[in-house]
Parts: sequence; C-alpha cells; structure tokens
Amino acid sequence: MDKILIQGGERLNGAVKVSGAKNAALPVIAACILTEGLHRLRNVPNLKDTTTIKLIMSRMGVVFQEEDGILSINSRKIRDCQASYDLVKTMRASILLLGPLLARFGRARISLPGGCAIGARPVDLHLKALSAMGVKMFLERGYINAEVSRLRGADIFFDIPTVTGTENVMMAASKAEGRTIIRNAAKEPEVQNLADMLRAMGVSIEGDGTDMIIVQGVETLNPAEELTIIPDRIEAGTFMIGVTMAGGELFVDGCRPEHMSAVIEKLQGVGAEIEKRPGGLLIKGPERIRSVDIETMPFPGFPTDLQAQFMSLMSIAQGSSIIRETIFENRFIHVSELRRMGADIRVHGNQAMVRGKDHLLAAPVMATDLRASASLILAGLVARGGITEVHRIYHLDRGYESMEEKFRSIGANIRRVKA
Ligand code: UD1
Repeated sequence: MDKILIQGGERLNGAVKVSGAKNAALPVIAACILTEGLHRLRNVPNLKDTTTIKLIMSRMGVVFQEEDGILSINSRKIRDCQASYDLVKTMRASILLLGPLLARFGRARISLPGGCAIGARPVDLHLKALSAMGVKMFLERGYINAEVSRLRGADIFFDIPTVTGTENVMMAASKAEGRTIIRNAAKEPEVQNLADMLRAMGVSIEGDGTDMIIVQGVETLNPAEELTIIPDRIEAGTFMIGVTMAGGELFVDGCRPEHMSAVIEKLQGVGAEIEKRPGGLLIKGPERIRSVDIETMPFPGFPTDLQAQFMSLMSIAQGSSIIRETIFENRFIHVSELRRMGADIRVHGNQAMVRGKDHLLAAPVMATDLRASASLILAGLVARGGITEVHRIYHLDRGYESMEEKFRSIGANIRRVKA
C-alpha cells in the first residue's frame, strides 16, 4: 500500500490550482443517466471516487471518453440498472444512481451502502422521499430493489437537509409527472451545480441555494452540451489551513470566496490574512496562531469535511479551542492519530477540546477516512523531529487530486512511496 512521507518545517509559497469538486462531479455524472445523448463536462477531477462512479456506469453500458479536458458521456445504451456491492462499498455516493435510473427506466437495483468510518449514515431519507414519489421498494440480500411505473411530483420535507438526498430527489423529479417541492433542502454549492446541470438538460428548477427547491418535471430531456464542475471548496480550504499552519503566502487559484465564507472568517480569526484577488484568494499564514472554536453546520456553516483539518491547526494554536461536530456522530477518529503526534485533544460526545501545543512530533500514522488523511498530512507539514509517515493513503486518493504533488510544488518536503 502506498504511503506518504513528510519532513515538516517548510513554509508554503506560490500558487496552487484548485481542482473540480468531487461532491459536485459525482451527482452531475450520475445525472447523465437521465437521458440518452452525448453530455460534455468540464473540470471533472481525476479521483478514485470519480473513477468508481464511471466504472459502475460503464458496467451499465455508459461510454466515457476524455479529450482536451472534456469528459464526454454517452448514456444511449444502458442495458443494466444495477450497482453491485463490490463497488458501492467503496463509495457511498453510489446511492446517487437511484434517482436517475428510476427516472429513466422505472427500475433500479443498488447495493445498500452500509455504515462507514464516520458514522452509520443511513439513506432512509432518500428512500422515504422516493416512496412519496410513487416508488415501490424492497430490500433483498443487501440490495435496494426499486420500481415505479411513472414517478409523480410530491411535496417532500427532509427532517435533515441531506445533500445527496436532495440531489437524488432533484434528479428523480426532473422526469416526474408534475411539480416536486423539496423543503428543508440542502443549500450546498454542489446542489446548485447539479441544478445548473439539470437546467442545461431542459428541466425547470427554482430555489437551489435556498431551503426550498421546486422542480417541474418534463417528459423529454436533452443532453447537457456543456457543464463546468465548480472548484472544490474543501480542497481549497485544506490548502488554506495548510498555509495557516506552516506559514508562507499562497494564491489559491480558482476557489470561489462566496463558497467559503465560514472558512475565511474562522481562518481570519486564527490570524491568517486573506485577500480576494481576481480568480481566487491570497492567504498569508500568521506568525502566531490563535485558537478559535468551530461548530460544523450545513452550508453556509463551517463544513464537516474540513473539521479534521481544522483540528490539526488548533493542535498547534495558542490556547484552547472547542470543536463541535453536529453532522456525523463519529467523526473524531483522527483524534487518536493526532495524539500520537503529540496533540492534546480530549473528546466528550460530539465535542473535542483541543489544547494547543508549541509543536507536533513526527510519527507513523494511519489514515482512517478521506478528510482524516488530509488532517494527518497537514500535521506532518509542521511536525518536528523526523519524518511523518501517513499510511493507508488510498483514502486520500478518493477525494484529493495529486495532493502531494500540489504541496510539493509550493515548497513542502513530501513524497509518495509506492507499494
Ligand atoms: C455529503 C457529502 C459529504 C459531506 C456531507 C455533509 C457528497 C458525495 N458527500 O454526504 O462529503 O460530509 O454531505 O456535508 O456530496 N442522514 C440520515 N438519513 C439519510 C441521509 C442522511 O439520517 O437518508 C443524516 C446523515 O447520517 C448525516 C446527515 O443526515 O448525519 C447529513 O448527511 P448528508 O447530507 O446526507 O451527507 P451525504 O449526502 O451522505
């Protein structure tokens, strides 16, 4: 298994280009199932997760081609409406295929994703909403078998503003009879990117970016001639936290400040200087890192996907900070690894108290999930006393494009050792 080796202590300077957002690319690629024809997508990141969704859809019969930065997707011949356990178990977001398969073919067989390292993460809200649209479902040997003769629009209220749940319903509603209203919808920028994709396919959607989305179903859709995936705000935030920890001055090229207000505000509170510049953000790391508290929230609040990375930052801040995780029940598994590097962190329920230390110490550590692996790399960038080895790096490759190369290009002493 590959591992990443980091010799800490280098400042980060220069510019880093942000890739397309994983969490926007996955639903947009899934949406190509909705109608036959040739869809063209720009800025799709090259990640393990995007490869997985392409693989699942290729098995169904969809053809992918990449040329000059454009991913062409031909979903004319789909012969199989199923996503099997061997791939779904590696990527929970495969559940995003349910809505579009039902909309186009009236049937789908998708393996139930199951639990994951950061919590139980059920899909009950997806299933309840689709049932309200007329879908009949039964579970058999770990698979969701779903069928509907004609999807009908419905008035749906989500108990929790689920991101992929909102996206699944938006895709199903695109071809449903009549109007669907999604209340307490997720407001994430990735949901808006999917709405743009559906609009490019001829669907009428209003309210994306607010907590009420209205979708007017249409009989026939056209393929999306061109849709650009938005920049990855989590990747951008990871680099911004990195320069705040390591020091230096970094231009985060391509990130959209309007997607990052909560992160910008917290990093300014910590002492980083951040300026909007044409095409991105310029960030300068502080001499002294101050402690601030964070609480993860749905967008536009502080993203849970940056909580682990922020904890690394707080572990070398002056003073103490409280980090509250309100989205996932078990998203502190990185704590024990950060402790192995000398961090002083105590966890009580969904709250972690981090007492900042003068420095962290290099150690061999194990990545446990995608964002936890990023937090360990950040810790390694500032650790003293040798080389930090981050093992099980396949988690990182699920969601970060060439992360170690990008860090190396801005001055970090980091390399990957192939197994
Ligand atoms: C998406 C993101 C993930 C991010 C998360 C929260 C993608 C591919 N993934 O995941 O990176 O961390 O949003 O911002 O976009 N819930 C239920 N029942 C359901 C669905 C969700 O109880 O049917 C709960 C979850 O367990 C969690 C909360 O709702 O506690 C929010 O989860 P959700 O927004 O659905 O996360 P994902 O869409 O899976």
